[in-house]
Amino acid sequence: MLTAEQNERLTRVGPGTPMGELMRRYWHPIAASVELDADNPTKEVRLLGEDLVLYRDASGTVGLIEPSCAHRKANLSYGIPEENGIRCAYHGWIFNEKGQCVDQPSEPEGSKFKDKVRIKAYDAQELGGVVFAYMGPQPAPLLPRVDVLVWPGVRRTQSIMIPCNWLQCHENSLDPLHFQWLHRYWGGWVMNRDKPPEMRDAWNARIGSRGADHRKIGFEVTDYGVIKRRLVGDETEQDDYWQMGHPILFPHVLHITSNLQYRVPVDDTHTLHFVVDLQPLEPGEEQPDVVPHEVVPVFQDDGRIKADWVLGQDQAAWVMQGPITDRTTERLGVSDVGLIMFRRMLEDQMRIVESGGEPMNVIRNPDENEILIYPVEHFEYPGYEGRLRGPFKDIVVNNTIEAELSGEGAKLAEWDGIEIDDPATVRRSRMVGDVL
Ligand code: FES
Ligand SMILES: [Fe+2]
Repeated sequence: MLTAEQNERLTRVGPGTPMGELMRRYWHPIAASVELDADNPTKEVRLLGEDLVLYRDASGTVGLIEPSCAHRKANLSYGIPEENGIRCAYHGWIFNEKGQCVDQPSEPEGSKFKDKVRIKAYDAQELGGVVFAYMGPQPAPLLPRVDVLVWPGVRRTQSIMIPCNWLQCHENSLDPLHFQWLHRYWGGWVMNRDKPPEMRDAWNARIGSRGADHRKIGFEVTDYGVIKRRLVGDETEQDDYWQMGHPILFPHVLHITSNLQYRVPVDDTHTLHFVVDLQPLEPGEEQPDVVPHEVVPVFQDDGRIKADWVLGQDQAAWVMQGPITDRTTERLGVSDVGLIMFRRMLEDQMRIVESGGEPMNVIRNPDENEILIYPVEHFEYPGYEGRLRGPFKDIVVNNTIEAELSGEGAKLAEWDGIEIDDPATVRRSRMVGDVL
């Protein structure tokens, strides 16, 4: 349970708020590269409580600027891409990616007025088919070259606008137990009612391993965030779920199987869930040039949340807590130790920023940023023999906090006779369109 003030500090993300200032020390995915092309050169976006315009100029440079033209305030999302910036629709002024006005075509010849005109601009960079934005103080840190963004392979991306605060989305990552209940039990219950038997059985087989009864959970604090571990069903401490676990990259990224899931704070009551997925190239398969993107709706036509896939169930859990979770009346149990730890970590890092310091997991050394590889259970590491566990064959479990749970669950009749899939064979993550 938090005080109202503690909850405000963790959830408000606008300019000048403690969490907003912490979040401004990191890069955020804001769009897919393919969303900006000659047909659609601009996109209106919102990030950390600010409305902005993202554009790609005719030379291919991406810019992120305030929406209003400095002249007479026309919205620059209606602008025309030129070689050196975006030209305002109203009187033709051009602004570049630094926010500098570089052309005022109708002013007197030789006028230097344009040199004095600037609008707000933030850094934007592309990596792995994703446009990232940085809105904090200069010099900007390096854009983290996380493995999924850098390795060769078949990448695809999704974005989903979630109508609730970022923290309740991300706290889900510190909550291993929800897999057993939200995905296996509730998700199974939904699928058992709505899907034909073969689809229902395939779901129950696939979700059964990670959603088995949880006997122990563990969380290890690292310099990049947290590793989350679980011991489920009949598995032992030598199995991947306990040895490897998977990381939560501070402040707002979940790295699970072949996914990166960014919980991007749009404003206090909206989160852009941006997902990047990587599948290793099969022998002889060519590296694709383009990373396709899909914009996924949260709701079905009947106004209910679409819950027949894993992320849909997560989204249901986030949205059903309300626009901002009321943490002043929640009652946390032992199974919530991970998110209690993470809230403390957030508070510590907000204080570091408030006292003028640099928070954790801000990357400035290019040598460390060539590629950032993390331990992820059942993940295929490209280029490593045997692929599973990659460079983490000798990982040592060093949890900061652990909790023993009863290991008790509940069963559905439809699970009888279902053979659970081996988690090592359920590596290929599936995104929307695949209901399993
Ligand atoms: S309002 Fe943009 S050029 Fe006049
Ligand atoms: Fe989940």
